Amino acid sequence: MRIADRIADIPASPTLAISAKAAELKRAGVDVVSFSAGEPDFDTAASICEAATSAMKAGRTHYTPVGGAPELKEAICAHYKRKTGFDFTPAECVASCGAKHTLYNLFLSILNDGDEVIIPAPYWVSYPTQVRIAGGVPVEVSGAAENGFVPSVADLEAARTANTRAIVINNPTNPTGAFWDRSQLTEIAEWLKANPNIIVISDAIYDELIYDDLEYTELLNIAPELRDRYVIVNGVSKAFAMTGWRLGYALAPPAVVSAMQKIQSQSTSNPTSVTQFATIEALKQGEAVIAPMRREFTKRRDLIYKLLTDIPGVKLVKPRGAFYAFPDISSTYGKSANGHTIESDMDFATYLLDTVQVAVVPGGAFGAPGFIRMSYASSEASITEGVTRIARAIAALS
Ligand SMILES: Cc1ncc(COP(=O)(O)O)c(C=O)c1O
Repeated sequence: MRIADRIADIPASPTLAISAKAAELKRAGVDVVSFSAGEPDFDTAASICEAATSAMKAGRTHYTPVGGAPELKEAICAHYKRKTGFDFTPAECVASCGAKHTLYNLFLSILNDGDEVIIPAPYWVSYPTQVRIAGGVPVEVSGAAENGFVPSVADLEAARTANTRAIVINNPTNPTGAFWDRSQLTEIAEWLKANPNIIVISDAIYDELIYDDLEYTELLNIAPELRDRYVIVNGVSKAFAMTGWRLGYALAPPAVVSAMQKIQSQSTSNPTSVTQFATIEALKQGEAVIAPMRREFTKRRDLIYKLLTDIPGVKLVKPRGAFYAFPDISSTYGKSANGHTIESDMDFATYLLDTVQVAVVPGGAFGAPGFIRMSYASSEASITEGVTRIARAIAALS
């Protein structure tokens, strides 16, 4: 069967081989410690589940308007009024089946063939592929580890061309846990003001999961004049431990929202109705649900940071948000043990899985070879066990 070119052009995920192997080992009863999860290990709060049950019992099981029920849109706008002070209206709000879906609809809505999207690297794996599917061209700009992985304005300017249509800002960042602070955002805001054709895509999916009493700043609050080309993407997956419910949303200029709803009307239609009512409850609960998880993640972040930086040769920028650590393991290159020679992050990940049964994601998948991504969305016991095994495996290399 002939498969369409647009699918053939999608690169195979370099992480798949590792996760497939880890799953196979687990099925065979091997004690694998996995750092590959992209989701909180907590269950959704009971109050949120109850809201879904009540919605079902009340017959809220029918189609809703494509971009979300009016009650949901109002709840999202009120939530963002609290966060940013801006009065967003339902015409500026669209809900989809997860933030991944929101971003997909967004790229399809704003990109023409050949339009370029600046994607700071290391980046979340789906951005470049989604941009390509929409006919756009992803342009990677690497942020140096010394700058906390945030690209400088000089780097952004060097990547800008007449075709630059958008930039993605994912703060805090998957996979690095980088936090873009107010002064970095202010510099980028100045650059954006000087470049009026660039749309800002703020993927704020981890904005509630930041540590050390840091305060999240939406770039729009620094530069309100960007509002007519500013898109906020968020959802309930990470902050409310609701990954399986599938609810993401965008706050965007009305023309963009209309375009996204048009696409959605011809694909999924509305996000699941009962999920929408669970989301209204989640947004109402806010800190009551988020704060205990944030406290747990802070403890785990501190633990994994200490354990990893105690390993000779491992370099790690302290993660300040999300639930990922992104250590530089390139000092193992050229070394061997147990029939494995390490020449790449993929070799290193394979070595860990084969010899100490620890699953990590190679950094190349995120545009950052030489690193690995480790999710600390797991128990402290499991983090300690896994990093102890990694330390053992690194010590065995010579
Ligand atoms: C940076 C980033 N954006 C968006 C998403 C999508 O989240 P969801 O589709 O579950 O809402 C993820 C999920 O891993 C992510 O890491």
